[in-house]
Amino acid sequence: MTAEAVRGLVVPLIYLVSATQFVFGLKRMARVKTARSGNHLAAFAMLLAVAGTLLEMGVVDYQWIIAGAVVGGLAGVVAATRVQMTSMPEMVALFNGFGGAASALVALSVFWRGAVELGIGPRPGDAVTGSLSIVIGGVTLAGSLIAFLKLQGKLRSGRPILLPGRHVVNGLLIAGALASATWFGFVADSAQASTFAALALVTVSLLLGVLLVLPIGGADMPVVVSLLNSYSGVAAAAAGFVVGNPLLIIAGAMVGAAGLILTRIMCVAMNRSLVNVLLGGFGQQEGAPKGDEEYENVRAAGPEEAAMVLETAESVVIVPGYGLAVAQAQHAARELANLLERRGTKVRYAIHPVAGRMPGHMNVLLAEADVPYEELFEMDAINPDFKHTDVVIVVGANDVVNPAATEDPSSPIYGMPILNVHEARTVFVIKRSLSPGYAGIKNTLFERDNTMMIYGDAKHVLQELIEEVAAL
Ligand code: TAP
Repeated sequence: MTAEAVRGLVVPLIYLVSATQFVFGLKRMARVKTARSGNHLAAFAMLLAVAGTLLEMGVVDYQWIIAGAVVGGLAGVVAATRVQMTSMPEMVALFNGFGGAASALVALSVFWRGAVELGIGPRPGDAVTGSLSIVIGGVTLAGSLIAFLKLQGKLRSGRPILLPGRHVVNGLLIAGALASATWFGFVADSAQASTFAALALVTVSLLLGVLLVLPIGGADMPVVVSLLNSYSGVAAAAAGFVVGNPLLIIAGAMVGAAGLILTRIMCVAMNRSLVNVLLGGFGQQEGAPKGDEEYENVRAAGPEEAAMVLETAESVVIVPGYGLAVAQAQHAARELANLLERRGTKVRYAIHPVAGRMPGHMNVLLAEADVPYEELFEMDAINPDFKHTDVVIVVGANDVVNPAATEDPSSPIYGMPILNVHEARTVFVIKRSLSPGYAGIKNTLFERDNTMMIYGDAKHVLQELIEEVAAL
């Protein structure tokens, strides 16, 4: 058997194994318990994919590949080990952007090689998929960089930037992208014309990416990042068609679909349409109650008073939110739960699907603190139980426990499903002030007769509470 024939047999086999491992890896990532091994499986599948591609292309000169793998690997390791949990969306945004850029560069290089070296234009099918890869990749890169800056609060502190006439400008840019894609793919018949058309296509795509994300507020960025993740997958799949690599098409399609599903889950959990998120300006609605609106009858308590109430509680539910992540209070929350459990109290954790700033944010933090999975309850599972709960401790959560979502049709978050903590006998809310959460609105929970605020940093308050409960 010739080396060529062996390669013809081995390469498809490697691709097949790699594709199935991607599927199983993704499946395992759907559960906290198996997510880590799912990630390892997918990383291994990627290694196989790279090996298969090198084998297929008959690459014998590895020096650039090894240099790239070392530099990229080092950058990845440093970024992944240094990043804080609360900054994870920023990192994912950057990764998506680079993924989009890589796909666009692959398509560009194939065409340039054809136009400049061989003097031929792309085939019609390749012209379509290649242009798609460049446009979507460009939009993903620029959009992700803006999302990154917004998440870091570096662009107008993450607030929406609503440029006048932006819808018209976006419409013109989309028309421009179509025109330059047609020029690039079907009309340009010389190396010079192809270069100009490609530059126009790249410029228009980058501009479009910037302008599409600018009007969207920083707190909606997880949805945008997830959508851009989906775009990066579509760009990769399109690039897969250009280079004729079936595995890239499969992997790209999986990323595209997964990103889209996640985007939908987030939108449903916030009761907002994707169009509403993408049009931007959320939290800037006219006439909407603002967080600095005066509160009435707010009652505050100290850790000592709270400990006395907890002393007689038979059931306690802890509700973590973004503030728990900021304060890194997950270990203190777990310690308090342990203490209460040792006293015979039933303790559970209630998880809202969009608590925090990224999907699964709370699950990951609580898993880090070794909270048993069986104590974590999703919103639908725990909501009917709040009316039978003695004490709810809300730790740095705000919007996800705001009863205005169910009671006030004028509220911007009206219709968003919430954790019905207000139905419990007593609610303690741990946060530093009466400042609003991400939606920027008043929380009517704080004025309820059964609610008491415990002001302070979540970790410090929980530590004081632990001392008080231990001293009971
Ligand atoms: P938020 O409503 O954003 O409220 C977080 C609260 O944490 C703030 O009110 C803040 O109050 C408090 N806080 C901040 N630092 C703190 C600290 N060190 N100690 C104690 N408290 C602290 O959080 P949430 O209830 O988790 O809701 C998440 C929001 O993000 C929702 O509106 C959701 O729609 C949105 N969102 C989430 C996602 C995903 S996927 N999770 C995606 C898009 C949008 P103080 O400043 O007074 O302390």
